[in-house]
Amino acid sequence: MATEIRSAIDFYDRHPISADIIRAKLKASRGHLDKVSPEELYPHDQDHYGGLAANEALAALLKVGPGDRVADFCAGLGGPARYLAHSYGADVTGIELTPARVKGAAELTRLVGLDSKVRVVEGNVMDVPLPDASVDAVVSQEAFLHVPDNARVLAEAYRILKPGGRLAFTDWIAHRALSKADAELMWQGMAVTELYDLKAYRALIESAGFTVTSVEDLTADWAEILKVRLAMYIKLRGEAQAAGTASGHDAFYESYVRFVALVSEGALGGGRFAAVKA
Ligand SMILES: C[S@@+](CC[C@H](N)C(=O)[O-])C[C@H]1O[C@@H](n2cnc3c(N)ncnc32)[C@H](O)[C@@H]1O
Repeated sequence: MATEIRSAIDFYDRHPISADIIRAKLKASRGHLDKVSPEELYPHDQDHYGGLAANEALAALLKVGPGDRVADFCAGLGGPARYLAHSYGADVTGIELTPARVKGAAELTRLVGLDSKVRVVEGNVMDVPLPDASVDAVVSQEAFLHVPDNARVLAEAYRILKPGGRLAFTDWIAHRALSKADAELMWQGMAVTELYDLKAYRALIESAGFTVTSVEDLTADWAEILKVRLAMYIKLRGEAQAAGTASGHDAFYESYVRFVALVSEGALGGGRFAAVKA
């Protein structure tokens, strides 16, 4: 297995949010796990910046409607996939690399009774286990930063989309090249591979055959979101250290602090892209 792929799996295997932790939190707050609604999972199962509003923005670009077949690339615990199924009536297949997340996604989807409309299958988005021209839309959130060959991912999105099908996703952006030390820190702490600026990303999407319909710079929004998330993370980490319990993994912490600084300086940021297969 390629080093980049192994590293992404290791990173998500150590991720502080898992299906077990979500279930434990729900059980502690409501006393049992009967009749859990999809809405009750949303505070926990969305592993991207901007929560449900970020899903809404992508759904609008994708024009998702009832019965649409959607592929969610790098689906994680299936939070956005369940949201698109529950709120828009879509039929969603998630593709997810990390086996523990595939298992967790199935457990959470069953818990909220959405298993007839949502499935997360184990797979690599560089080699998607879906037939040609089989979906109406492809979505993804903050995941391609881990994938070593994004040209291949975009070619796979193009292959599985029906003619007229839509692609919309968010990802990390590098507005300027990182120093060697910063690139190494992002790789060691968060399994970050190659990053592009907005222009280069647009060109990559076009090279896969798509017509790009919008490119948005989310950097200013992310800078605000990240400041709040980092403050919360530091507080929890401090509390865990004071209590002598597990306080998270140091390489992640160091790279996360630097990532937030790089986003507020405008060196790194986020982009939202939409495109259509003509
Ligand atoms: C930041 S999480 C996003 C999860 C989900 N999109 C969400 O917003 O909740 C990134 C996910 O990408 C997955 N991933 C990384 N590389 C992948 C690959 N090559 N193929 C499929 N999934 C991958 C990781 O295992 C992780 O679950």
